[in-house]
Amino acid sequence: MCCWTPLSLSLPPYPLQIVDISVSRIAAWNSDVLPIYEPGLDKVVKTCRGKNLFFSTEVDQGIRDADIIFVAVNTPTKKVGLGAGRAADLTYWELAARRIASVAETPKVVVEKSTVPINTAEAISAVLHGAGKTRFDVLSNPEFLAEGTAMTDLDKPDRVLIGGNMNESGMAAVAKLADVYAHWVPRERILTTNVWSSELSKLVANSFLAQRVSSINAVSAICEASGADVDEVARAVGMDSRIGSKFLKASVGFGGSCFQKDILNLVYLCQSMGLADVAEYFHSVVMMNDRQKERFVSRMIHGLFNTVTGKRIALLGFAFKKDTGDTRESASIEICRRLIEERASVCIYDPKVEADQIWMDLTTATKLDKTEVQKYVTLCDSAYEAALGAHALAIATEWDEFKTLDYAKIQEDMVKPSFVFDGRNVLDHDALRALGYIVYAIGKPLDPKLNTSINC
Ligand code: UDX
Repeated sequence: MCCWTPLSLSLPPYPLQIVDISVSRIAAWNSDVLPIYEPGLDKVVKTCRGKNLFFSTEVDQGIRDADIIFVAVNTPTKKVGLGAGRAADLTYWELAARRIASVAETPKVVVEKSTVPINTAEAISAVLHGAGKTRFDVLSNPEFLAEGTAMTDLDKPDRVLIGGNMNESGMAAVAKLADVYAHWVPRERILTTNVWSSELSKLVANSFLAQRVSSINAVSAICEASGADVDEVARAVGMDSRIGSKFLKASVGFGGSCFQKDILNLVYLCQSMGLADVAEYFHSVVMMNDRQKERFVSRMIHGLFNTVTGKRIALLGFAFKKDTGDTRESASIEICRRLIEERASVCIYDPKVEADQIWMDLTTATKLDKTEVQKYVTLCDSAYEAALGAHALAIATEWDEFKTLDYAKIQEDMVKPSFVFDGRNVLDHDALRALGYIVYAIGKPLDPKLNTSINC
């Protein structure tokens, strides 16, 4: 739970108190090693901490002192019960609301920062007013920042969206929050809407972005079958100003904590409203994403002479995108799970992801214990180490350092013929072929030396 406002490079004249029940997490925020990696975050925290930014486990005091309370708790997809696998689990939100209600003595503006299904503000308002003893105005203020560029996104957002009730006190609360953002965001970029529009806009924005990725990934399959080049198609299509060029990079599949979760949330919402065909439409975005990951693995298996059993594969990148240590829904997890299923030997290197996180992701995905997983998976300290004795390199995350590796040196220590499967289209494929590699790249004309007897 975070009382006040998101971090900004500018220093607005209000104290920002971040409170959390986790002692270890707050200790990490107060230490030199922050609990998450995000470019530029260290600098802001170190500049502001102790001045107008405080981290504490004194949750109740934080609630009492705040005028505006941002609730930024986790809202994962429900694992069990009604709506399992699709609906958002609002347990943490409800617990936070009950805590605020029981402690608050003066009127509060309570802001939804976590992505939530529509109508959550109304439900939370009912909890707050039912259990509390003061007035609460619940606002929706979805976060649009992306990992890896979070600090710039926060500092220069395309827009800030604030949804509130259209009554007098709701509109006053919206104005109060807008005034906070106006310290660093131009007024014309601060949009105010009713609460449902705001909640729905967040789900729709993520669904549209994910849909673009699934669309270009669907096109990548057509490109491979036809000889077209997906980057050329994306460029030609994206130059149409009505379409735009962003989010048209074909990949091994989108990951991250938001896209899949928010689409499934939208799907569940549509289903519960009786809009089965609309639900199916959005669900196809996730299905196409799953297919893309499987397609990549199939290309590897068929390319490597129809089996990867016992073969060493260097998997470069485990994060769901570059410049983050986050692995949630990362395509690498599914790729690895499939390679383990095929009894390959997988050597993983990622510059930022912690070893414990990889083991946790893989034991969860495979339902095997760590010792079993370790029969198939080794973690390495560099791309060079991962590639030692490997039959193939697979690029799953577009880390910049993968572009400048010494691929001639790497190949010397690989089994021949050596394969590269570029799941992010970040390498110089012609240069690799000149070195003797057999190269597969998403949505690119297929290498004549690659086994393509089966269309993927
Ligand atoms: C996303 C939204 O962009 C952000 O607005 C929202 O607040 C949270 O969810 P994030 O998940 O951090 O942000 O990353 P994003 O840059 O959107 O990428 C999501 C996934 O799509 C990554 O796996 C990325 O590699 C992939 N992607 C993105 C592509 O495969 N191709 C693209 O062209 C763009």
